Amino acid sequence: MTTSPLLMIPGPTPVAPDVLAALAEPVRSHTGPENAATMLRIQEGIRRLVGSAEARVHCFAGAGTLAMEAAIVNHAAPGDRVIVVSHGYFGDRFTEIGAALGMHTDVLRVEWGQRAGAGALRALLLRDDPPALVCMTHVDTSSGVLADCAEMAATVRAATPEAVIVLDGVCATGGIEETMDAWDVDVLLTGAQKALSVPPGLAILAVSARARSRRESLGDVHAYYADLRRWDASVDDPRKYFSTHAVSLLRALEVSLDGILAEGLPARFERHRRVAAMVRDGMGELGFSPLTNPAYAAPTLSVLALPDGADDAKLRAGMTERGVLIAPCLGPWAGRGIRIGHMGTVTESDAARTIDAAAAALGA
Ligand SMILES: Cc1ncc(COP(=O)(O)O)c(C=O)c1O
Repeated sequence: MTTSPLLMIPGPTPVAPDVLAALAEPVRSHTGPENAATMLRIQEGIRRLVGSAEARVHCFAGAGTLAMEAAIVNHAAPGDRVIVVSHGYFGDRFTEIGAALGMHTDVLRVEWGQRAGAGALRALLLRDDPPALVCMTHVDTSSGVLADCAEMAATVRAATPEAVIVLDGVCATGGIEETMDAWDVDVLLTGAQKALSVPPGLAILAVSARARSRRESLGDVHAYYADLRRWDASVDDPRKYFSTHAVSLLRALEVSLDGILAEGLPARFERHRRVAAMVRDGMGELGFSPLTNPAYAAPTLSVLALPDGADDAKLRAGMTERGVLIAPCLGPWAGRGIRIGHMGTVTESDAARTIDAAAAALGA
């Protein structure tokens, strides 16, 4: 076994040497000019990645789930109606957070591996009171389903123009094109550890003018650290203190964003599509078959049924012995298949190594 296994799980993902080197730099002051410059560059880089000219970008210590919670608690009040489009485990998490915060959640669910359609969403939007929020997941990391963000957001906007649209980009941002302004999405949230190729520990939110004005109209909310209004001054002037920034992770994100933008977004997204196709073809030759409807399968991970007679735990253990980590399936697919992440820095040679490890583990 190699000393550092190849992380082909759907996050955290491999981190490039220059990003790891940034983590080893001396720790900076959280209110100093160097960290302030880093934060402003991150804000600009994230706006480019998510396709927004003017979104306010928050980036604080925490995981993706904190960003989901912040997106909900800042833009709806207890008792408000929240609609969730769920394509699996992480869509369902939005409903759990909404319920924990005292909101009325209505969820649009489909069979795992399938995609919710605009017609069903429209019917839900027009039933009962207009929702304060509509939440959806760009790529659900459990089912591998890629949402049709453009169509779903346009459906929300047409039926309920005041609704704040929240998009979870945790398994997409940096690996798949996102155009927040063109889609008219209000909050695009993500984490550091997937297609942004940074270790876990940052909650990132890009927030539109519509969402900011919703936040203003709510007054006090049931949050403190996750209250975006308390962070606003330090977003506008990162030398201002609200809570201590994760300075080393921020520096790592700055370096990673430089690499992402230097690669070029179209080239990066194309690489993700190429590597996904290579993984699916190669694993298909070994007898794996898609669990996600191929028409909706995201380019950031593959969710595959095991070949007849193969054992999930034995396969993954055999691959781990060969230096490649992959993930089990979740929910109704647990035990039936595997999940292979291929996002961030992952290349064709990583895909080849994964396919070889699977072949060897199956044959062992
Ligand atoms: C799509 C999606 N949303 C949200 C989350 C939650 O992020 P975290 O585990 O960083 O809290 C994950 C985690 O894998 C995810 O894949």
